[in-house]
Amino acid sequence: MDPQAFELPSMPGRPKSAAEVRAMRRSMPFDLLIEALRAFQARPTDICVATFPKSGTTWAQQIVHGLRTRGSMDFEEIGVVMPFMEMAPMMGVDVNAPQVAEPRGFKTHLVWEQVPKGMRYIYVVRDPGDVLVSFYHFMNGSLFEKDTIGMESFAHDLYIPGDMPWGSYWGHILSWWPKIGAEDVLALCFEDMKSDLEGTVRRIAKFMGIDADEELVAIATRQASFEFMSRFPTKFDEHIGQRAMEKAQGVPPGEPMSKVRTGRTGNRLRELSEGTRETLDAIWRREIEPAIGMPSYEHLRAHIASLHAGR
Ligand code: PPS
Repeated sequence: MDPQAFELPSMPGRPKSAAEVRAMRRSMPFDLLIEALRAFQARPTDICVATFPKSGTTWAQQIVHGLRTRGSMDFEEIGVVMPFMEMAPMMGVDVNAPQVAEPRGFKTHLVWEQVPKGMRYIYVVRDPGDVLVSFYHFMNGSLFEKDTIGMESFAHDLYIPGDMPWGSYWGHILSWWPKIGAEDVLALCFEDMKSDLEGTVRRIAKFMGIDADEELVAIATRQASFEFMSRFPTKFDEHIGQRAMEKAQGVPPGEPMSKVRTGRTGNRLRELSEGTRETLDAIWRREIEPAIGMPSYEHLRAHIASLHAGR
């Protein structure tokens, strides 16, 4: 499909307020992009890293790619070897094309209802406050003009209402919840990837059907470490997708933004006000607890860990 089909109404520049971000979001051709995915032919061996943005997507992609290639770093940007499904048409990428290695790998931020079916899915979740902080720093200077929106406005005017590209954090969890625990889904928590990276690599290898020897586990673990990935910012900054998006928006190139930033847990405690953190907890209790019986993110995390015990 011609990437020009996805051009957005031309804009005077990057948004400079939450209202302008909302207007831009409304003009994004998500329906067209999802429609284009109907041409995707899934294979039962395909591995799709599915997340709400900033939850550990790139990290999981690097593990999958490391396992399937014995650690090849021979790519311009990770998205070239593991396409971003819904953005692929805008970037002129054919999602059905053969990939550099098997199994094929993809990334998506779509909710379960929109995701192409028939693949195997690695669903990564992360604390909602840490996602918020990470999202803010990523969007500051790329989605909106640098420093025109502050962290607290971003939280209350965009992230909490879900008025963002890819919608609501809580909506994403609710949509994927029925699949968490299914045979074709491996659910992971960012915080546990951090506390046990090698165990995560072994779990992912098993899920991919790779009989990983100790050397392969060591390579994939080393190359998924924060220290290793930090050395290659341009391989993990989605610059090709960002340029395609900017072209579609008609805005000048923004700052390159590596997906490997702090790699920390608990940034919410450093950068969000107490009031905002309390609001996030209250939303969890209001939106998530009645629907799935988990009173907090930590309960969901414990639930996901219990699923691993049986696998
Ligand atoms: S995106 O844009 O949705 O694809 O972003 P995503 O890759 O999901 O999330 C980016 C955050 O993941 C952190 N990250 C890592 N943490 C620890 N170890 C490794 N190897 C690693 N790689 C990426 C990255 O630093 C972003 O989190 P923040 O909080 O911004 O540091």
